[in-house]
Amino acid sequence: HLPNATELEEFESLVTNHTMLHEQMVNFFRGFRRDAHPMAIMTGVVGAMSAFYHDSTDITDQHQREVASIRLIAKMPTIAAMAYKYTVGQPFVYPRNDVDYASNFLRMCFAVPAEDYEVNPILSRAMDRIFTLHADHEQNASTSTVRLASSSGANPFACIAAGIACLWGPAHGGANQACLEMLNEIGSVDRIPEFIARAKDKHDPFRLMGFGHRVYKNIEPRATVLKESADEVLGLLGVENNPLWQVAKELEKAALADPYFAEKKLFPNVDFYSGIILKALGIPIEMFTAMFATGRTVGWISHWNEMITNPYRIGRPRQLYTGADSRDYVPLNKR
Ligand code: CMC
Repeated sequence: HLPNATELEEFESLVTNHTMLHEQMVNFFRGFRRDAHPMAIMTGVVGAMSAFYHDSTDITDQHQREVASIRLIAKMPTIAAMAYKYTVGQPFVYPRNDVDYASNFLRMCFAVPAEDYEVNPILSRAMDRIFTLHADHEQNASTSTVRLASSSGANPFACIAAGIACLWGPAHGGANQACLEMLNEIGSVDRIPEFIARAKDKHDPFRLMGFGHRVYKNIEPRATVLKESADEVLGLLGVENNPLWQVAKELEKAALADPYFAEKKLFPNVDFYSGIILKALGIPIEMFTAMFATGRTVGWISHWNEMITNPYRIGRPRQLYTGADSRDYVPLNKR
């Protein structure tokens, strides 16, 4: 449902005006080790929102559901940016209501009290594209996790915290971080064949990160858009010749020309390009998955809302036991 002009204005105003966190929540951040992973901080802080926002945890109340949804969408960039600031030892930057969602996020990450941060519109457009393209993607692992958690009637903050935890893994949202780390490890174009060979070797657990998808067996539409953004951003910053980007481009070419990847229908996915753009934007690698979580919050909360406003039962995946029929009890001193 596309909003009409009034609905859009109202939505924008609600999201824009709920970006601040309860000041007492700052104490939660201070409890983490300074080198904590931002995803660890996000999982904890989002879960802790249920301890602060009691007036939006009654899932049977439509108004409270709406308030919780807006709070999550509006505050997630603030939480992500605070997680980053905490790990680099800089003071938190409060959100500003006179800039758009993506620019606000970049500002909260990069402004410091000594000097303000002028947001470049090309960079905020790329950030906005990343958030938009990550907003929803059907029944992926983290969304299914959110739905399973919500099927028990858990509050929305707890459900989204569960989604963030699931997203963190390298086979899912963590792939953008893993991909950049892989490109760094490859380091130069001449080492690409060695890594392609490892990815193809059945006895080597190494996989080309940012390649392959459970659903897409063709070029990912999201990857196509982000490839364009990557070119735009790297061009603007004048770093098209950066070795990392050269390795990424050559790796893509080599994999696409290799029969192994063609037969298995392994194409670059969204994480292949998002990592490169985020890196060019100056976002540290450890923050990449936090960016994904920020964008995906919109999809998670929509799935949550859709699920609990329709008839549902608690989720209970069946398990087929394939172990021994019976096993004798052996006393501890005989084992
Ligand atoms: N590099 C090398 N071989 C691969 C790769 C890869 N990236 N991905 C799959 N394969 C091979 C795999 O070894 C298997 O070979 P065989 O049939 O000989 O055993 C075959 O392709 C099928 O793989 P699968 O593991 O059964 O496929 P899946 O649908 O279970 O996994 C995936 C999908 C995305 C987890 C997997 O492709 C992968 O691990 N990719 C790298 C991680 C990554 O980029 N993840 C981001 C996914 S997109 C965004 C998101 O969901 O968050």
